[in-house]
Amino acid sequence: MLLLLLLLLTCTTLYFFHDRNVRSKASYKLPPGPSPLPIIGNLHQLGKNPHHFSAILAKIHGPIMTLKLGQLTTIVISSAEMAKIVLQNYDQFLSNRTVPEAVRVHNHHVHSIAFMPITPLWRFLRKICNNQLFANKTIGATQDLRRKKVQELLGKIHQSSQIGEATLFVAGTDTITSTLEWAMTELLSNPNTMKRAKRELEETIGKGNQVEESDIARLPYLEAILKETFRLPPSVPFLIPRKADTDVEINGYTIPKGSQLLINVYAIGRDSNVWKNDTNLFSPERFLGLETHVKGRHFELIPFGAGRRICPALSYAMKILFLMLGSLLNCFDWKLENDSKAEDIDKKQEFGISLRKAKPLRAIPIKVNN
Ligand code: HEM
Repeated sequence: MLLLLLLLLTCTTLYFFHDRNVRSKASYKLPPGPSPLPIIGNLHQLGKNPHHFSAILAKIHGPIMTLKLGQLTTIVISSAEMAKIVLQNYDQFLSNRTVPEAVRVHNHHVHSIAFMPITPLWRFLRKICNNQLFANKTIGATQDLRRKKVQELLGKIHQSSQIGEATLFVAGTDTITSTLEWAMTELLSNPNTMKRAKRELEETIGKGNQVEESDIARLPYLEAILKETFRLPPSVPFLIPRKADTDVEINGYTIPKGSQLLINVYAIGRDSNVWKNDTNLFSPERFLGLETHVKGRHFELIPFGAGRRICPALSYAMKILFLMLGSLLNCFDWKLENDSKAEDIDKKQEFGISLRKAKPLRAIPIKVNN
């Protein structure tokens, strides 16, 4: 009983101070949002898939919206236009990270480039990424290694195909694996898209051949499939959370200093002001003839983020995805386990830093002869 009273007293005191703090900043006009409960704010509303729920809320409250995640004021961006304003015009004030306790206890905010603040050390590490690790020269020099690794993968899948085993697309926290799994899921759900992709590969590099890096520029339909995979079930549903270093005024609203900024990539991929036709339809064709790329300048498609904190491994990741997906499609035919139908594929998502398939895809490879 005493414990309960103490807890109640602590909560009331916290709420009182927090409330006073907000009122002392009455000149702020926070972006609109759903009413928060004391202490927990809107946490109870977010559920298992916060990217879905905040996309629904954004339809009511708008593309710049306030949520209270416990005591943390969080501004959620849900349209391409608003993402452009935030990440292009105000990137310099919004480049630090909010660091969750789970990351802090392991000291990742000190050692990990993804969570450390903008400091000379961060700049130094980014320079190493840009000029050494992921520089064109380095990526070019390691081409043989990737070819060999893809060859090994194809060899293992060939063994599975000989015993009719389903190839499990092991879902991990890894963004490349989850992108690949979503791409295969969508292709197996859309047999016509699969056929068109295989036809392009067959006509461009010959049936049954492994994709080489020099082939990439000649595979526009495969590229469109990867972009559509990034749009529809994005492997990273929210960009890694950012923090406002100062008050930032946007469209008459304030992103207050110290607040957390979330960019909902999932919602942006469904922004009906940008994406015409059925936004929920997997249709790589929508990218054919468009200049849209994933390098952080077209804000309707920012799977790798944008601005100073853009993913430094972007072009390396894209190369690997081309090689793996293209080779899997060109060297094998694929069917679903237990003769399931395309419409039976379970596409439920499991939220995390990367968006995984709740139920891993199981598909059976059948070797294609060249
Ligand atoms: C499909 C694959 C990948 C996707 C979709 C992806 C996406 C992202 C996103 C959205 C961010 C945050 C950007 C922002 O805050 O604006 C990020 C940051 C980062 N990514 Fe990736 N990534 C992928 C692969 C990789 C790989 C393979 C590596 C390394 C080998 C990597 C290393 C990093 C690092 C170090 C950061 C932190 C950059 C910083 O905070 O300064 N990523 N990535």
